[in-house]
Amino acid sequence: MSAALLEVDAISRRFGGLNALKDVSFSIKTGEIVGLIGPNGAGKTTCFNVVSGVMSPSSGAIRFEQRSIVGKKPSAIVSEGLVRTFQATTIFPDATVIENVMRGAFATTPVSMLGSIFNTRAARTALSATRSRCELLLERLSLLQFRQRRAGELSYGGQRRLGVAIALAARPKLLMLDEPVAGLNPEEAADFGRLIKELHKTENISVLLVEHHMRLVMGLCDRLVVLDHGEKIAEGVPAEIRANRSVIQAYLGAEEAA
Ligand SMILES: Nc1ncnc2c1ncn2[C@@H]1O[C@H](COP(=O)(O)OP(=O)(O)OP(=O)(O)O)[C@@H](O)[C@H]1O
Ligand SMILES: [Mg+2]
Repeated sequence: MSAALLEVDAISRRFGGLNALKDVSFSIKTGEIVGLIGPNGAGKTTCFNVVSGVMSPSSGAIRFEQRSIVGKKPSAIVSEGLVRTFQATTIFPDATVIENVMRGAFATTPVSMLGSIFNTRAARTALSATRSRCELLLERLSLLQFRQRRAGELSYGGQRRLGVAIALAARPKLLMLDEPVAGLNPEEAADFGRLIKELHKTENISVLLVEHHMRLVMGLCDRLVVLDHGEKIAEGVPAEIRANRSVIQAYLGAEEAA
């Protein structure tokens, strides 16, 4: 059995008296697409925040490729190959589309180094290689024709794809997507699902997906981890999760409370 790429080991996160995450453990193997699901407020985004270093866990261990990443800065975690997108779009609307993606490619380069490296021949070659790769990503995400447009002029769906292009520019081994199809219509959501599957192959990435769109999650993921009120209540292949009584109960309970 191949070793885990990401191991989340009994992480907890408290906000005052609230246990947003309580003893949550799961792992992702290289090449897997894993879904992290659960009703609103279950702790999914908190889990992303803790894994990506945006906030630290109150307790527990997180290992990426067998090395602990707890306490590392988000940029250091990106350098290790663990890159996430945010639940809301995070683009620079006034910069061009290609500039946004280039920013993703240099996400882990210290600003102090950028000036000096751009003045050497080797650096200019590297820069042009990066630009080519960013253009290839834009092509894969059907955004190449918009590369010189202001990012803020893209459609909502285009901005969400740009968010993925920015994340991919940092060359992730594990891509964490937080509700990538939220706000998209059913057709756009299905397109996005196909896109993720394609990128999984062409970019050779593993994926951790948070999403409420059940058809997408069930069709895309090899395995699902279900959270409810900060605790893991189930884990398994999509067919098992669909038939799991506590999962059905958690979602029904959430509907009744709404
Ligand atoms: N920074 C914070 N400070 C205080 N409480 C927080 C903070 N972030 C999240 N919470 C609380 O932690 C719980 C889990 O929130 P989280 O955003 O992780 O849920 P989620 O599963 O991503 O929900 P959704 O599906 O609505 O995005 C919620 O009760 C939320 O109000
Ligand atoms: Mg969330």
